[in-house]
Amino acid sequence: MKILITGGAGFIGSHVVRLFVNTYPNYTIHNLDKLTYAGNLANLTDIENQPNYQFIKGDIVDAAFITALFEKEQYNAVIHLAAESHVDRSITNPLEFVMTNVIGTVNLLNAAKSLYNKGAGPFKRFYHVSTDEVYGALGETGMFTETTAYDPHSPYSASKASSDHFVRAYHDTYGLPAVISNCSNNYGPNHFPEKLIPLCINNILNNKPLPIYGKGENVRDWLYVIDHARAIDIIFHKAKAGSTYNIGGHNEWTNINVIRLLCQILDKKLNRPAGTNEKLITFVTDRAGHDLRYAIDATKLKQDLGWVPSVTFEQGLDATVDWYLNNSEWLNNVTSGNYTHYYEEQYAKR
Ligand code: NAD
Ligand code: DAU
Repeated sequence: MKILITGGAGFIGSHVVRLFVNTYPNYTIHNLDKLTYAGNLANLTDIENQPNYQFIKGDIVDAAFITALFEKEQYNAVIHLAAESHVDRSITNPLEFVMTNVIGTVNLLNAAKSLYNKGAGPFKRFYHVSTDEVYGALGETGMFTETTAYDPHSPYSASKASSDHFVRAYHDTYGLPAVISNCSNNYGPNHFPEKLIPLCINNILNNKPLPIYGKGENVRDWLYVIDHARAIDIIFHKAKAGSTYNIGGHNEWTNINVIRLLCQILDKKLNRPAGTNEKLITFVTDRAGHDLRYAIDATKLKQDLGWVPSVTFEQGLDATVDWYLNNSEWLNNVTSGNYTHYYEEQYAKR
């Protein structure tokens, strides 16, 4: 089987690429990535020389390039993770999100549709990786299920919702064998430090303020990235064409409590007196349109396909912090240059 994984140099994509390359030596895995600020080949050094793996630098927005690539390689399947993924950046530059997340997805769908050729071609599966943010925001109770109506609020979630609709439309209209999963907030190694957890790890290490939006009362459902990759593996192999699965950790935390826990873990690991890191917490202007709460009901995935998370949040967060402490060169590289500029723009006047 020849699989194209898009966005495989990013945070989640690199874990998916590693899992597939190591678990399925008989598959040929191509990783297509534009290497934006979020893509980093340093995430994949351990598998870059494996005989079943190849990296291809390219842009999913470039329709001619995508068409030619699919014609040449005759892929059997796509696992599509390439995206602009950060909500705050989508508020500053929505069009970039429309281009990559909507147009880029439609380009891949068109190329896959040609190879599917109404069932006569080699193409067997289009797996679209999406987010729980398409469902909008919850109040204090309830959970998102696969039948919750779409109600996106940010330009990011609107672009992901649109891409989900296109994937379903290609299944319903052309019979393309597509599946979608909608996952909650991931955390773990290789997470770019624009997102809450790695940003705060980096700031604690540098004794910088920890910017908490609003009152820190927003709730997210955190899942260890390797458990997300495991779920993608299972859904890719077992889900029926046309199906959707929610993926989540059943692990809701207010932002302020996540950061308090992180501060405590790092007080111990850095041998700082208890309470030292919490003094860095700073409440800043809220994110525009900030969704109050996300919570995923992953019962369908558990019942149909037997997936459950393999680590607790405490175990996963501890392992994540250790990864950042042991990979200071990775962290220094991604926080130099453009990152400083981004940080100034986002946080200086907040
Ligand atoms: P990321 O920002 O870390 O990585 C995205 C990758 O896509 C990068 O390697 C980047 O170079 C690549 N990319 C961006 N534009 C591209 C283009 N035009 N052509 C080719 N490659 C391009 O993102 P992530 O957090 O790893 O998220 C991966 C996917 O999972 C996204 O589709 C996202 O919506 C979804 N998702 C993320 C989370 C999360 O918590 N991070 C949760 C649920 C779903
Ligand atoms: O729910 C899945 C989504 O999770 C994914 O689809 C997105 O790609 C991913 O970025 C993530 O979105 P969030 O907006 O929830 O993640 P982020 O890490 O940006 O923020 C988590 C929470 O922390 C959110 O309530 C906003 C808040 N926050 C974030 C940052 C960066 C802060 O309080 N301060 C910060 O500096």
